[in-house]
Amino acid sequence: MHYSITHRMKRLRSSHNIRSMLAETRLNINQFIAPIFINDNITTKNPVKSMPGQFVHCIDSLNAEIDSISNLNIPAVLLFGVPKYKDEVGSCSTIDDGIIQRAIQKIRAHNPDITIIADVCLCEYTSHGHCGILNKHNRIDNDKTLDILAKQAVSFANAGADIVAPSSMTDGMVGAIRTALDKNLHQETAILSYAVKYSSNFYGPFREALEGAPKFGDRKSYFMNHANAKEAIREAFLDIEEGADILMVKPAMNYLDIIHQIKYNFPEIPLCAYQVSGEYAMIKLGAQNGLFDEEQMILESLLAIKRAGADLIISYFAKDIAKLISG
Ligand code: PBG
Ligand code: ZN
Repeated sequence: MHYSITHRMKRLRSSHNIRSMLAETRLNINQFIAPIFINDNITTKNPVKSMPGQFVHCIDSLNAEIDSISNLNIPAVLLFGVPKYKDEVGSCSTIDDGIIQRAIQKIRAHNPDITIIADVCLCEYTSHGHCGILNKHNRIDNDKTLDILAKQAVSFANAGADIVAPSSMTDGMVGAIRTALDKNLHQETAILSYAVKYSSNFYGPFREALEGAPKFGDRKSYFMNHANAKEAIREAFLDIEEGADILMVKPAMNYLDIIHQIKYNFPEIPLCAYQVSGEYAMIKLGAQNGLFDEEQMILESLLAIKRAGADLIISYFAKDIAKLISG
């Protein structure tokens, strides 16, 4: 007996209800992290020109921002700071009254529950704008940089950070930070490692907001070449060995294949993806110019990151998505 069966994929796409019942991927606000920029040299919050809707905060505008984030049930924030002054070695990054140290204390006193993640790097704190200490040939001195990153991480943990997030791609940074945290009785402080960070054109708006562009050269000698995927597996492997608790791939949109490969190779390690400033700006500016619907584009871009395999997403759209998926 032969049945002639007509396959109709459309049956399962015919209404909003059936589409949403069968959605394989869902966005959950529990998995979002909102970045916050704070500058020690300003007394009112300033809009970021290249990132419509984003602000650089002053210490006094911080608590209101934390309230608006936690009222939307976003569980975590990622802090970036511009210090009082910059020098060759990023001195302001490790002092007790540094901008991030004070911000962490302030947030913690105001909101005991929100998860505080602090970015650990030197580019915002150095006069040359590179992510490490330079030697006399203007190359990164890897091991000197490790010492100061470890100090910075301990200082943020002392201030009350729950998670430190090293983003400089310094070889050995995760191991050095883990050792220093443990030695200083911060065994409970987790490390979210920017394990796979590409040398990308998508960081432009961030560098404007944080005044963190390199004054000469570029970051190609320490961030990953975007031609490479197998190397990403090796980067992830090394960071896991050194004690990373969570891995990150950055940027997200151009690197969905990498997110997928890392999740596939290390399914047991929580994976975070960073939808970076350039991705945000492209969507915002495109929508403002009538090229596409902003809300639909936010949903599509974030769902794609999730579908690729990210467990957590850092996004400047965190507040927008919170409103979109709750409503
Ligand atoms: C610091 C850092 C950068 C970003 C996160 N941490 C800038 C850079 O590496 O140039 C970029 C984030 C974004 O573009 O949203 N190393
Ligand atoms: Zn940096």
